[in-house]
Amino acid sequence: MYNRKDAYYKQAKQEGYQSRAVYKLFDINAKHRVIRKGQTVLEIGSAPGGMTEGLLELVGRKGHLVCNDLLPMPVSFESVSNYDFVQGDITSPSVRARIGGLGYKFQVLVSDAAPSTTGIKSADHEQSVHLVRLISSVAVDMLEVGGSMLVKVFEGGSRGELVSELKASFRQVKVVKPPSSRPNSVEIYLLCTGLKG
Ligand SMILES: C[S@@+](CC[C@H](N)C(=O)[O-])C[C@H]1O[C@@H](n2cnc3c(N)ncnc32)[C@H](O)[C@@H]1O
Repeated sequence: MYNRKDAYYKQAKQEGYQSRAVYKLFDINAKHRVIRKGQTVLEIGSAPGGMTEGLLELVGRKGHLVCNDLLPMPVSFESVSNYDFVQGDITSPSVRARIGGLGYKFQVLVSDAAPSTTGIKSADHEQSVHLVRLISSVAVDMLEVGGSMLVKVFEGGSRGELVSELKASFRQVKVVKPPSSRPNSVEIYLLCTGLKG
């Protein structure tokens, strides 16, 4: 069992963030400087917007954020001028076309997307790996050469194979587990940098 109201939960309340999820992004960014002011970022698996708040802060007013999720985003984001949202399944060509139609070339793709879990660890891992493979094809299509992808995956036996596959497209792939990610959670993040041309 974990304590839902842990230190990060309390910190989020105090600092006015929607959820503790934002600290996973901040922890990773403090160490690896993935996202910088002025960048154009694609966020997949954005609902209900916990990390979105952090991404908007990191890109700043001169940056731009395009979000995507199967589920709707809170209406509070609609008034943000440097934000777009495309609802739908990222694995669907029509959703990709709608994102592409916005006309941005992205420097960074951040994905916190996760499949619905069954409770069977190995099956959830394989589903998550499958989703990351599809998301990496979005990265290859939509990122600028040299761009980065930070993507969540559930830990498991195919991780090594997935990392090898990602290395075909990115110069470096690191496994990261931020301190704010619950230690007993199977989630890890893969930080893929230097998209090859
Ligand atoms: C862990 S939640 C994201 C939490 C969010 N990043 C936050 O900080 O509030 C995972 C999200 O991935 C989304 N998702 C899963 N599969 C997806 C897909 N194929 N296309 C788009 N979104 C997807 C789910 O709808 C869900 O909202």
